Amino acid sequence: MVFLPCIALLFTVISVSDGAGFTVDLIHRDSLRPHSDVKVQDALQRSFNRAKSLVNNDIIFPQSTSTEIVSDRGEYLMKISLGTPAVETLAIADTGSDLTWIQCKPCISCFKQNSPIFDPKGSSTYKQVSCSSTTCTSLQRSSCNSTTGTCLYTMMYGDRSYSKGDLATEKITLKGVSIPNVIIGCGHVDQGTFGAGASGIVGLGGGRESLITQMGSSIEGKFSYCLVPFLSGNAKSSKMNFGENAVVSGAGVVSTPIVEKTPKTFYYLTLEGLTVGKQRLDVSSLYGSSASEEGNMIIDSGTTLTFLPSDLYYQVVTAVKSQVKLKQISDPQGVLNLCYLSTGEVPQVPAITAHFKGADVKLKTVNTFIRTGDNSLCFAFAPATSFGIYGNVAQMNFLVGYDLKKKTVSFKPTDCSKA
Ligand SMILES: *[C@@H]1O[C@H](CO)[C@@H](O)[C@H](O)[C@H]1NC(C)=O
Repeated sequence: MVFLPCIALLFTVISVSDGAGFTVDLIHRDSLRPHSDVKVQDALQRSFNRAKSLVNNDIIFPQSTSTEIVSDRGEYLMKISLGTPAVETLAIADTGSDLTWIQCKPCISCFKQNSPIFDPKGSSTYKQVSCSSTTCTSLQRSSCNSTTGTCLYTMMYGDRSYSKGDLATEKITLKGVSIPNVIIGCGHVDQGTFGAGASGIVGLGGGRESLITQMGSSIEGKFSYCLVPFLSGNAKSSKMNFGENAVVSGAGVVSTPIVEKTPKTFYYLTLEGLTVGKQRLDVSSLYGSSASEEGNMIIDSGTTLTFLPSDLYYQVVTAVKSQVKLKQISDPQGVLNLCYLSTGEVPQVPAITAHFKGADVKLKTVNTFIRTGDNSLCFAFAPATSFGIYGNVAQMNFLVGYDLKKKTVSFKPTDCSKA
């Protein structure tokens, strides 16, 4: 996932558990913080940082099943309750990382946080993990406090943010649903550009330490979300669902297989190509390129932009350029490659369809172009140097459902402000 400090959404848990599943609300942070225009640039820049860090880790640790290549910072905050008695806090919901961590007392070095720092001493269900446990030994970048024999974790981020602290187990409660003994990080040394709204990260990836994995059978491997476009000025909340509530069905649903690869943190999909206007562009035409392999793209709710295998990206850009009649300008913020002079009215841009294996996802303008200023409209895709990343701009106004039993991701076009 990627950083989006100001266009972050706030998850607020409001719905009730009905035994079959439950739903939490995602509230757009824009509704709380007005200066989104400028901050979009931060988010986009962080998108690049994120992509870079994923790629670096891919190259350096090709065998890794680790969770350390976590996202930077995400645009979705999830309200969770921690400990006994339960203390509510907001943490970045990240489908691109596994370990859930929050800032903890005593703070040796913490980033600014609006809500009180969690005090593990105040919780009867907080338990440190011993160095000899498999929980500790299987975590990458774990170490041991030799004084106490308890496990220490380190999480590193693409923009050089990090969190270090005690590995522990603790009870997490999501509105009426308690999950005991969740592996968490209790961070005492945390550094980075985390927004003050967040106290840490909720890991929703596919790896061992992920909250999703740990909730396991109770949610039957199912979760879904519907992201309200963050630049629409729409203050409506978005939704995140777990269990039976997360089944995506009905008219217009398309599904694509999740490909098993390492690290297990990521949900890998196969992008076969894109259609721009009437022009179909396929990755399979790039014979011999790893870009056309199964699982060439991860889906990451936390990354803003979509990073395409670079050969495909340049074909797509050529197609977009030939079809958009607006005057091309350079991005006022110097982040995105392809921008147009465009004022408020609905811009004339080609329709783009993402062809995942077995699932044609028809994107809307909101998914493919980002307004970066009053007069600038930029193409929201970027070239990847390794595997692609299907970012959250592309996912807005879709109900996106993960079924980890069936190993599918489903997309259903949805007005998320009404979902
Ligand atoms: C190890 O534990 C001791 C006792 O709780 C503590 O004082 C010390 O700071 C810990 N060391 C690290 C590296 O966390």
